[in-house]
Amino acid sequence: MHQQHHSQRNAGENQHNPDQDRSPRGFHQTDAEKIRHHLDDHDLKAAANAGELHHHPQNAGEERQRRGHPAEPSDVAAHAAEDQPENRHIDGPEQRRGGDACPQVFPTANDSQAVGERAQESLEMVLLALGVGSGDEVITTSNTFFATAEAIWFVGATPVFVDINPQTRNIDPNLIEAAISPKTKAIIPVHLYGQPAEMRKISAIAKKHKLFVIEDCAQALGARGGDFALGELSDAVCTSFIIQKNLGCFGDGGAVVTNNAAMASEIAKLRNHGSPKRSHHTMGYNSRLDEIHAATLSVKLRQLDRWNDRRIEIAKQYDAALAGTSLELPYTLPGYRSVNHLYVVETEARDALQSHLEAQGIKALTHYPIAIHQQEGFPFGRPARIAGSLQHTERSAARVLSLPMYPELTDEEAKQVIEAIVAWDKTQAAKTQKVAG
Ligand SMILES: Cc1ncc(COP(=O)(O)O)c(C=O)c1O
Repeated sequence: MHQQHHSQRNAGENQHNPDQDRSPRGFHQTDAEKIRHHLDDHDLKAAANAGELHHHPQNAGEERQRRGHPAEPSDVAAHAAEDQPENRHIDGPEQRRGGDACPQVFPTANDSQAVGERAQESLEMVLLALGVGSGDEVITTSNTFFATAEAIWFVGATPVFVDINPQTRNIDPNLIEAAISPKTKAIIPVHLYGQPAEMRKISAIAKKHKLFVIEDCAQALGARGGDFALGELSDAVCTSFIIQKNLGCFGDGGAVVTNNAAMASEIAKLRNHGSPKRSHHTMGYNSRLDEIHAATLSVKLRQLDRWNDRRIEIAKQYDAALAGTSLELPYTLPGYRSVNHLYVVETEARDALQSHLEAQGIKALTHYPIAIHQQEGFPFGRPARIAGSLQHTERSAARVLSLPMYPELTDEEAKQVIEAIVAWDKTQAAKTQKVAG
């Protein structure tokens, strides 16, 4: 495998005329440009060969990385570091190119700001840019990754948890109005598992009550609503580029996309130690998307729709084959494009099914088995409010199981997963009959 990398890499290098790589000052092309060439020329081809690799299906982002992009981060970094870099590792052309590409994913965006590090920081910076902080409430869901609420806590505000719609597992828009108080400043819907939240309804409520809307789009890059695009009905979209997401870089990354020019310029400061220019600072972050990651994303972005289409194809295979089982399957709202970041089934016997699959060499994980408000230590010494019952959130958390889902999963592997589940389901049905008899 390693050998193969080197031969691929050398072959790639031979195709480039080194003189073309030199700038007039005699320096070589930037690290990030090299990475992009490297990926362009070779590594994406490997995605087509994924079927030749025989490994147990896994959910891990690392598995995606290994199959689709055999160049290890260290290999790419070594490649980039071979020559003295011309100029920038941060805030350079690749980062800007990434920003320019945002409208491809968010078609209604006319201004965008790529930032770095993590979706959580992006959420924090948007909240700060909107002036949301201590004493303010932000409505969201407890059925999400911890970071959504963590960001609210970090800016000093109070998360207000509203229950989910048990079918979509996203925030139930019909419960939002009852949760609004005079302190409410914003709503953060999460597009969980790749399906957009019901943004039309959410944005209508937000308009009526003069609230900000910030989309947590960490799991839904490339998705669409029935009659809306991501970013169209909110003040900002925050997304994550960590490796296991639908569009992932070689490490940590994230972005804010907004049409609000004032917010974009505030975030430009916040992400850079609160600095609009050298030696002028306010409080901020070091949250810039490194060039190495921006370059990786620029290349991978071209594959996003194809990868998402493949996820949808796998989801259809699961849907069709598991429809007759006792499992509750994911529900996609009519006309929506869910990009199936995760394919999450539900069953009372979740732990038993998970063990059964594990015994067959199939790794199925849980997203998320303990809702935020049920986690040990909640609310972590901070304010929090639970608006009404969270019964659907709690029920879902106790029942969820994520089947293997990533674009490089082969049909054969999906079939193995299906067969293992169908066989398990038959034994379950037999057990139930016995008890009833
Ligand atoms: C729904 C959701 N929000 C926020 C995050 C945080 O993303 P990051 O790790 O890039 O901060 C994640 C990441 O797993 C997520 O799934």
